[in-house]
Amino acid sequence: MEKDVLILAIESSCDETAAAVVRNGREVLSNIISSQIATHKIYGGVVPEIASRKHIEAIDRVIDGALEEAGVKKEDIDAIAVTYGPGLVGALLVGLSEAKALAFALNKPLVPVHHIEGHIAANYIQNKNWAPPFVCVVVSGGHTHIVHIKDYDGFDILGHTRDDAAGEAMDKVARVLGLPYPGGPHIDRLAKEGDPDAIAFPRVTLESGSYDFSFSGLKSAVLNYLNKAKMTGEEIVPANVAASFQQSVVDVLVEKAMRACESLGIKKLALAGGVSANSQLRAEMEENCKARGIEFCVPAPILCTDNAAMIGSAGYYEFVKGNIADMSLNAYPALKLGER
Ligand code: KG4
Ligand code: ZN
Repeated sequence: MEKDVLILAIESSCDETAAAVVRNGREVLSNIISSQIATHKIYGGVVPEIASRKHIEAIDRVIDGALEEAGVKKEDIDAIAVTYGPGLVGALLVGLSEAKALAFALNKPLVPVHHIEGHIAANYIQNKNWAPPFVCVVVSGGHTHIVHIKDYDGFDILGHTRDDAAGEAMDKVARVLGLPYPGGPHIDRLAKEGDPDAIAFPRVTLESGSYDFSFSGLKSAVLNYLNKAKMTGEEIVPANVAASFQQSVVDVLVEKAMRACESLGIKKLALAGGVSANSQLRAEMEENCKARGIEFCVPAPILCTDNAAMIGSAGYYEFVKGNIADMSLNAYPALKLGER
């Protein structure tokens, strides 16, 4: 049997300071997440400068906690994986500097991980047998992509959003409904009490055959609906707005995902990113996959939103293929999927 590979992973791209220890890319020995949501909530969104400071306050404690919970000493770690983009530059730099310092002091390899590739890898943790090729719908606060995952290190981007990400649209619509940040989980909860057919919001599918998305028109349609209702004195039922809006997002994501599987002849579909914690998206994607004989994988909600276990999984596959960075590794806030 080959030797186990233990990865210490660090994630600090946005408003969660996270560290995890992952064995062989699949087994999570610890997954510590220190969330700053309560701090940013009062501002209605993430304040980058505050995020950086909060990361600095939390990072040592979070890393020590991850090692302790895993029962692993720093010296026993095989490599240190860290998110180097995309994200908030000041926030990324906290995790990256810490990872570089640890790698240098312990003389361990430093493995750069793309945040979105981390989200995709959460599926390898969720289902120990899950492996490429598969189609992955990545829906987070900053990104919306449909990706053909050909191998652990090879993929084709089939489509992406041309404007707002799905999570961004969720958060913006939640905000106009007076719901707290981050709005996605509140839309999810409120939608359960509403009628998804109450308001006919658009399904923006773009040109026929396109796998791209556009959510800003939908967001504007919700704003127009609310403004018009206020002006005409029509009663606004927030649960119906949330349910109808969410249905519109889910319908478009499901339609494109099913079409991608069909046209590529791939019978495996995964979800990734914070919005894949959405209960209706999970349920409808699963139902549609079942009806077509497509195998479906979605990470547990805690692995959908930002965490370091997913970085440890992606980091393992980078490590085994020899993708090691030196001390000149920098943070790349606008790093695109597929970019190195
Ligand atoms: O992946 P993530 O944690 O951070 C980024 O990389 O962006 O995604 C955060 C996004 C936020 O927009 C948040 O509102 C959304 O994921 N989100 C949800 C749910 N939980 C988190 N959206 C819809 N339903 C949820 N249950
Ligand atoms: Zn994320």
